[in-house]
Amino acid sequence: MARSHSHDAHALLPDADARRTAEARLVALIERHWDEVAGLPVAPGASYEELAERLAQFDFREPVPPERAIELCGELLRDGIVHTSHPRYFGLFNPTPTFAGVCAGAIVAAFNPQLAVTSHAPAAVAIERHVLSFLARTLGLGQAAGSFTSGGAEANLTAVLLALERHLPEAAVDGLDAARGRPRIYVSSEAHHSFIKVARMTGLGHRALRLVPTTPRLQLDPEALRQQVVDDRAAGDRPFLVVATAGTTAAGVVDRLAEIADLRDELGVDLHVDAAWGGAVCLSDRLRPILAGIERADSVTIDAHKWLSVPMGAGVFLTPHREALESTFRVTADYIPSASGSDPYLSSVQWSRRFIGLKVFMSLLVAGRAGYARQLEHDCRLGDRLRALLEEDGWLIVNRTPLPVVCFTDEPDGNPGRSASRLRAIAEHVVSSGAAWISVVELAGRPALRACITSYRSSEEDVIALRDALRRARAAHEPTDSAQRRMA
Ligand SMILES: Cc1ncc(COP(=O)(O)O)c(C=O)c1O
Repeated sequence: MARSHSHDAHALLPDADARRTAEARLVALIERHWDEVAGLPVAPGASYEELAERLAQFDFREPVPPERAIELCGELLRDGIVHTSHPRYFGLFNPTPTFAGVCAGAIVAAFNPQLAVTSHAPAAVAIERHVLSFLARTLGLGQAAGSFTSGGAEANLTAVLLALERHLPEAAVDGLDAARGRPRIYVSSEAHHSFIKVARMTGLGHRALRLVPTTPRLQLDPEALRQQVVDDRAAGDRPFLVVATAGTTAAGVVDRLAEIADLRDELGVDLHVDAAWGGAVCLSDRLRPILAGIERADSVTIDAHKWLSVPMGAGVFLTPHREALESTFRVTADYIPSASGSDPYLSSVQWSRRFIGLKVFMSLLVAGRAGYARQLEHDCRLGDRLRALLEEDGWLIVNRTPLPVVCFTDEPDGNPGRSASRLRAIAEHVVSSGAAWISVVELAGRPALRACITSYRSSEEDVIALRDALRRARAAHEPTDSAQRRMA
């Protein structure tokens, strides 16, 4: 028999008829989005101010029927976001979400399991552990421990906390003041900027981060790393962690992981590999060798909401050091029901936790490992095609990576300030036309345009459309020296 509700409860849970009407509207809205997004401008024109003005009419005095609320939110998002799920969004590791991942999001919201302790959600905790061990095995880490995180930044924070626990355990009780010598983390200048936040959050301070120079290929320079660690030790510092990146944010470059792992052994520090984006290629036997050496890491970040294309946020932290991970986060709280040694809250930053892993589990279940491998390999081929098209048009590719991030310029020797503003104008021209989304980055002090194959829906037709949009933008913004020549 259907359960009856108090009047107040109806405000939060409509009756069955009203629910069905709203649910049908919700499904129709999502279905329309899948169909129409490719035809929308990638970056719609509504400004923040216009959108805030549209919102001003809602003062929450009069209830709005749920189907109307669904429509309203759909309209706001249709007009007011960069459509990162557009096949011509060549952007910042924000993918088109998998269909299974979208379904998982709805299931998680409806069941709303609490994953702090295993006893509250054994099914959910078992599913997460199943996925985490699959990813750990696939990366070659063996029987690793770990957790789902909100994203790469939280996973990188976890890595630093774990390394502190392994190398400066005295700091957990007495704080960093107790450390003999200044703790040091080594990152390349191409590493993700979340490490700056991590240095501040952990109390290590920004200066604890040592910026290691890169080679001309924008990889962390192992020789420079060795020298810096040796010099710092000689000066009484406490080097404890090296961070390598597998798929840098700006240029998609993979550091020389095996060589850095050898150095880790020699120098007696920990090695964290930030594979937030590039780690996905472990699912393809053909691409896996790009990550050679990752299996020797002390910890790894891999974000499922990047190249595994699940909806945000879904980061993953993995480490073979299970005991140290547990001692990093262990606390006892007598109000926690039937706490067991392996409860997720005891080995991770979060306490209450959302069921992040379901969207990864369902996406892997539906696509299969082979489906992901085909997709990743397709994206790499499309990156190669884009490189070839751009070179035909006289662009110079300035990054070297087998992964589909393409950085390019036509003024390699121009004045960096002037070419940065011209390249920004070109990117802006492409973006404001609605044809595609690209950005500008700085690599070793020089500006470049950046396009990444981000959506699994991108095709050859889309990279050709990007090439054409760039032709139009370049015609409107000639290189600074040729404009100068014409004026002379
Ligand atoms: C290499 C790398 N690490 C970490 C992050 C941070 O990830 P998130 O934004 O999911 O916190 C990013 C984000 O782009 C990244 O590219």
